[in-house]
Amino acid sequence: LHCKQRGRPSTSCSSRSQRGPDAKIYGPLWKSKYGPLVIVNVANAELIEQVLRQEGRHPVRTDMPHWRAYRELRNQAHGPLTEMGAKWQRIRSILNPRMLKPKHVSSYSNAINMVVTDFIDKVAWLRDTHGQGVMVHDLAGELYKFAFEGICSVLFETRMGCLNEVVPEQTQKFIVSVGEMFRLSQLVILFPKSTWPYLPFWKQFVAAWDYLFKVDDVQEKLQLGQPVEGEYLTHLLLSEQMTVTEILGSITELLLAGVDTTSNTISWTLYHMAKEPEIQEKLYQEVISVCPGEKVPTSDDIANMPYLKAVIRETLRLYPVVPGNARLTVENEIVVGDHLFPKKTLFHLCHYAVSYDEKVFPDPHTFLPERWLRGGEDRSKQHPFGSVPFGFGIRACLGRRVAELEMYLLLSRLIKQYEVKQDPAGTTVKAITRTLMAPATSINLQFLDRQVQ
Ligand code: HEM
Repeated sequence: LHCKQRGRPSTSCSSRSQRGPDAKIYGPLWKSKYGPLVIVNVANAELIEQVLRQEGRHPVRTDMPHWRAYRELRNQAHGPLTEMGAKWQRIRSILNPRMLKPKHVSSYSNAINMVVTDFIDKVAWLRDTHGQGVMVHDLAGELYKFAFEGICSVLFETRMGCLNEVVPEQTQKFIVSVGEMFRLSQLVILFPKSTWPYLPFWKQFVAAWDYLFKVDDVQEKLQLGQPVEGEYLTHLLLSEQMTVTEILGSITELLLAGVDTTSNTISWTLYHMAKEPEIQEKLYQEVISVCPGEKVPTSDDIANMPYLKAVIRETLRLYPVVPGNARLTVENEIVVGDHLFPKKTLFHLCHYAVSYDEKVFPDPHTFLPERWLRGGEDRSKQHPFGSVPFGFGIRACLGRRVAELEMYLLLSRLIKQYEVKQDPAGTTVKAITRTLMAPATSINLQFLDRQVQ
């Protein structure tokens, strides 16, 4: 890596960290190695902003050699996560409108609300049959099923039966494969590409991907030219802008991006609601003031629930499900801080570290939704790149609006229905990174029925 110093001398770019990112030891900018990858770590809001603002016309996160290798091996198409350059831009321009335009996104409310209803019932069933009438064990595991069902209801308008008492084997296998693929991803990338076929876990990695691409029913119907359900999918087919293989590539990537992300975030939110009953009460009061009695929140109601949004925002600050994002400079050399970096520099943006930077977020370890409320004192001082959980710019999360809608509709209704309380065994749950951030151990919570008000 050639990193030319501009101005005063500094050692922050020299190769001195083999031990992983630690902004406290190395300062806000340091170089490290991860397997064959040389990485420039950026752990400061201003510097992250500088990297992101110079990302060019076709930003690249990383070139994802292991994910791409699978697609080449099996002759599968790339989707928005893995494609690059003008081809990526083309895919995004086809997928964006119905994923990000508010009018389209709010039209998914009914489908998502049906899944929410089933989840509320599933919680009651789990509690009554497996939790002595109060406890739900391994909430994250249940929420993975909710998220998969939710994203399928948006893409295919089809129910997969993930929230039934017995989960269909195929869908359970998909959910497990998402977790496996992310877990193995960070192992595979540690080794040079030439060694992959000889690694014992390469086979498992390929097998996990095989399963993810095996969206059986849909695949078969598409290949036979039979009609499929679902506004989103139908739209993609009718627009005739993509081949069937391309549609499958994109749908697979949307599905896998849509499972662990929303579910882990909601797991942490509920964990905090149980730990902090005053915040839960405040949220409850907001929800019932907008939706009293039996009224089910809709996307219009959500617009009147700023505290609900602030609770999710604060969860994503403390538990960014994508704890470190990346950018590979492909078009130009760029200046970051006092340094000039050449093309092909891989920047790792340490969002998790910055989320806990007390200069950006005073009292960083405290769960404080008020930070995100308009007019809140802190907000004006906060750096806009202090917490960017959905990424930035034209390469930002494609599922953001759908993810937010899912999380708002689920959380508002859960809090309306149940008072969430901590596990009396009082276990503290830590976070772990498996590419994405997840709870390291089970989150078990009590769900007590509320009286309708
Ligand atoms: C809490 C929920 C979620 C969070 C925090 C999240 C976060 C992110 C982040 C940080 C990125 C990288 C953006 C960048 O590089 O600037 C990303 C990309 C992406 N996300 Fe999400 N995501 C979430 C949910 C979803 C859902 C539900 C879907 C699918 C419907 C989805 C689909 C995608 C796709 C396809 C990309 C790749 C976009 C591209 O490279 O062009 N995400 N997400």
